[in-house]
Amino acid sequence: MNNEYKLTKFVQAAGCAAKMGPGDLKHTLCGLNTESENLLVGFENSEDASVYQINDTQAIVQTLDFITPVVDDPYVYGKIAAANALSDVFAMGADVKTALNIVGFDKVNLPVDALAEILQGGNEKIRECGGVLMGGHTIESPEMYYGLSVTGLIHPDKISRNNTAKIGHVLILTKPLGTGILSTAIKRDLLSESSTEEAAKVMQTLNYMPSLIMREYDVSACTDVTGFGLLGHGLECINPDISLHIDASTLPILPDALKMAELDTVPGGSKRNMKHIEDKVSFVGNAINSKLILSDAQTSGGLLIAMDEKDAREYIKRVEELCYGYATIIGRVEAKGEKDIIVF
Ligand code: CO
Ligand code: CO
Repeated sequence: MNNEYKLTKFVQAAGCAAKMGPGDLKHTLCGLNTESENLLVGFENSEDASVYQINDTQAIVQTLDFITPVVDDPYVYGKIAAANALSDVFAMGADVKTALNIVGFDKVNLPVDALAEILQGGNEKIRECGGVLMGGHTIESPEMYYGLSVTGLIHPDKISRNNTAKIGHVLILTKPLGTGILSTAIKRDLLSESSTEEAAKVMQTLNYMPSLIMREYDVSACTDVTGFGLLGHGLECINPDISLHIDASTLPILPDALKMAELDTVPGGSKRNMKHIEDKVSFVGNAINSKLILSDAQTSGGLLIAMDEKDAREYIKRVEELCYGYATIIGRVEAKGEKDIIVF
């Protein structure tokens, strides 16, 4: 790593990259006419990616995502940003085909070598899942950001939607929570090297293999946990028939995340997420202590998958190494109760 600069320090200096919350987004998107008979999934259902059918057996899956630095090392940041952007294609159960870079670069304060390392890291992740980088666009910006516009392919009958979970299925989470809190701790120089490395390792891991293996099972719903936190993305999975029951004691959590949360290294996005879920989630007893970690805005978080319990146990064994032992059953899909999500 180049010690002359720290990427995350530039984010702090610029400091205006507040993400829009789920509520804001709904408001700004309503009223846009996006009707098309080929559009199988548009943005009205808060899905992970949009899906457009091109013939009887093929549909294209499109998504884009970009983020400000969450670690100091440009190469690792590139990997994390790419893994984060590619994830929505995997959440739909699709294959990545092509990607385009989206870059805002602070040429005044950062050496161009840093940009080369970022793009190198990103490209390695695109190659890892069989995709190809086809170009992109870079602008000068006081705030560094990088991500991808991604195109994938899927059979129109094989889309894993987020709001179709079956009652009785269990919920699997494939990565630990806490990346938002830990990224904030990194920006403040509070996190130990080993915990920084563990968070970076998890964030740069693709959801590619867990998605491929998931397709061998009867999965009733899938999404990935990113900026709105586990509860925010969990709420997007709700339909009029179901509630999600989450067992707080089973949650996989990154080392030091709870300790750092106590020091209030909590990103603004996570605090907004906590407000957003308030009326729709109930906490039983001590489970209230998990409200923050369950709302923490994740970067390149894991897949949240609903499947039969017996299948889930087998699936978790198969992905155990890929997920560094973090993949766990964290709850169950139940018939609609008073609240959309109950944490116990
Ligand atoms: Co997503
Ligand atoms: Co996304």
